[in-house]
Amino acid sequence: MLKTISIIDAKNHVDEEVKIGVWLTNKRSSGKIAFLQLRDGTAFFQGVVVKNNVSEEVFTLAKEVKQEESLYVTGTIHEDQRSPFGYEIELSGIEKVGESENYPISPKKHGVDFLMDHRHLWLRSKRQFAVMKIRNEVIRATYEFFNKEGFIKIDAPILTGSAPEGTTELFHTKYFDKDAYLSQSGQLYEEAGAMAYGKVFSFGPTFRAEKSKTRRHLIEFWMIEPEMAFMHQEESLEVQEKYIAFLVQSVIDNCTYELGILERDINVLKRYTELPFPRISYDEAVEMLQKSGEFPDVEWGEDFGSPEETYLAEHFSKPVFVINYPKAIKPFYMKPHPTREDVVICADLLAPEGYGEIIGGSERATDPEFLEAQIEKAGLNKDDYQWYLDLRRYGSVPHSGFGLGLERAITWITGEEHIREAIPFPRLLNRIYP
Ligand code: 4AD
Ligand code: MG
Repeated sequence: MLKTISIIDAKNHVDEEVKIGVWLTNKRSSGKIAFLQLRDGTAFFQGVVVKNNVSEEVFTLAKEVKQEESLYVTGTIHEDQRSPFGYEIELSGIEKVGESENYPISPKKHGVDFLMDHRHLWLRSKRQFAVMKIRNEVIRATYEFFNKEGFIKIDAPILTGSAPEGTTELFHTKYFDKDAYLSQSGQLYEEAGAMAYGKVFSFGPTFRAEKSKTRRHLIEFWMIEPEMAFMHQEESLEVQEKYIAFLVQSVIDNCTYELGILERDINVLKRYTELPFPRISYDEAVEMLQKSGEFPDVEWGEDFGSPEETYLAEHFSKPVFVINYPKAIKPFYMKPHPTREDVVICADLLAPEGYGEIIGGSERATDPEFLEAQIEKAGLNKDDYQWYLDLRRYGSVPHSGFGLGLERAITWITGEEHIREAIPFPRLLNRIYP
């Protein structure tokens, strides 16, 4: 019996005869030789079929096999210096498993809408494979980091009655005879978790009914939200930069092949593992923008758009923290500044290369009266937040936390142009198929 292996394990089977379950992605053949491009979900490599070395039946099959047909192939692994993967297989046998007639995605260029309509098949392509592998590594490294740092995972509910990030972008649904929303953020529940278990994090889907159609916005995205008791904002920034550096280093260490497929320069990524990241205040950021001459309309008090974020981040070769934004443009729960009325103790982490905000976080307000007033000011129903105020009534402590947008981080690390590529089945404005 031949040993069945995965393509990724080819390096351990050089000059051995093996069997692999594969799909055909492309092929090229002449009268004497056929080159089959094969994938099995672990890697892509080439199968070579030499007419003189195989039966007529096998060579005919090699010439006729169609794109995305599934096969069992048998053959001998060889080193192949010319391919980025480093190995190929000289085939001796081909057995067809599943047919594929007129596969819709051909190697020629297709438009974005066509590809998104065929996302369930488009995922099989090489770039998409590489991005999904890196997504998987970022998720794996996230669990490793927070476990190593002594956090425990506390899962926040998806169906909630609270609206931490404001009421304008909520997905409304019925919860029997009551109203409910899809979670915008697990933060408030993580705050309860932090008061119970010290250092906690959540990792789950979050929803924003944002009518924005940009390359940075998803309607449904995944967020990692750590929350830490007995922690001020400055220490939280240290956790954040350490976490980002750990993610980038893990991808560099474990995804060399995938970064190669994406042609992502590892030397650029290495810069992002050097700590600390710079910190500038919102005030300084506004001044930089005004002085640049490129943003004549920027005024203190406004939120930054993507051109402003891109400009700011371009001035640093690493991610940059912009700290202490105006109170008026940030959510109700942020801690007021001790000596200034107009700003709160918070930070956004802006990624370089035009990827914008990847983390938003803050120290949290601890005074229950202040918070109750804030909740009312935000137009929220204070009865729905009594449980949240209890966290301040019973053993309140300084605490801080943040949220990393998983897909924003992946888009940046992989160097993809659009956030839709960072999630298997993107929910975009007006797109819920497939
Ligand atoms: O800045 P946001 O809205 O912050 C919060 O939700 C806080 N409750 C987090 C916390 O302190 N626990 O969102 C956090 C991050 C952003 O920095 C961004 O990376 C990502 O979530 N994000 C989005 N990603 C994709 N599509 C969208 N529409 C996003 N909105 C936010
Ligand atoms: Mg934000």
